Amino acid sequence: MTIGNEFELAQLRDVGRIVALTLQRMGAALEPGMTTKELDDIGAAELARHGAISAPSKTYDFPGATCISINPAIAHGIPGERIIQAGDLINIDVSAEKDGFWADTGASFIVPPATAAKQALCRTTRKALKQALSSVRAGRPINVIGQAIENVARRGNYSIIRNLQSHGVGGALHEEPAHIPSYYDPADTRELKEGMVFTIEPFLSTGAEWADEEDDGWTLSTPPEYLTAQYEHSLVVTKGTPIVLTAA
Ligand code: CO
Ligand code: CO
Repeated sequence: MTIGNEFELAQLRDVGRIVALTLQRMGAALEPGMTTKELDDIGAAELARHGAISAPSKTYDFPGATCISINPAIAHGIPGERIIQAGDLINIDVSAEKDGFWADTGASFIVPPATAAKQALCRTTRKALKQALSSVRAGRPINVIGQAIENVARRGNYSIIRNLQSHGVGGALHEEPAHIPSYYDPADTRELKEGMVFTIEPFLSTGAEWADEEDDGWTLSTPPEYLTAQYEHSLVVTKGTPIVLTAA
């Protein structure tokens, strides 16, 4: 959506804070031996406590409140009986709706012990998100986002998952501007406009460039030899630094 007034901004800030708090609470609760369903229940309770509704459940009938993906699954993982293990690289994605406003956030976590390779991947992916956020400004082309992400990924020698892209949010879970790639697309002539609301969510990988859907119809996975991380914020475009809605 593109917002035009303070009321809409306040509503977006509210739902943004809720998904950020939920993600933070789930990340803090992560421990070996718990199932992904138990972790999801913590997220579901937190969303409910704030009067928010799970966005993937409401929009797509996703069988869970949040998406929990353990590498090589990287997105849209279904919470279930899978037991979280020491060393897992796990992505938690939380999106919700409250009073007609929607926000989306996500982060990857390493269940200790963390290898240097996993730490470096997570650090660089966070940096890619940060650089992309600071490239956003009204009047610039939308492809500065992919350019910023690609620059960071290249310097770190990481690949980019090309079929998982950032997207408009705010009035729905997925809306215009749709399909904002995490790589530089010179043919994308769209322009960033003041008030635009969308996510930035780079997926950086140790080699994978594509995520394929598993037989369950939801989980998106890479080949097993790769590690992949994602961090995601929802934001509002301004003439200056964007407003990040999902910073905890
Ligand atoms: Co998300
Ligand atoms: Co998203």
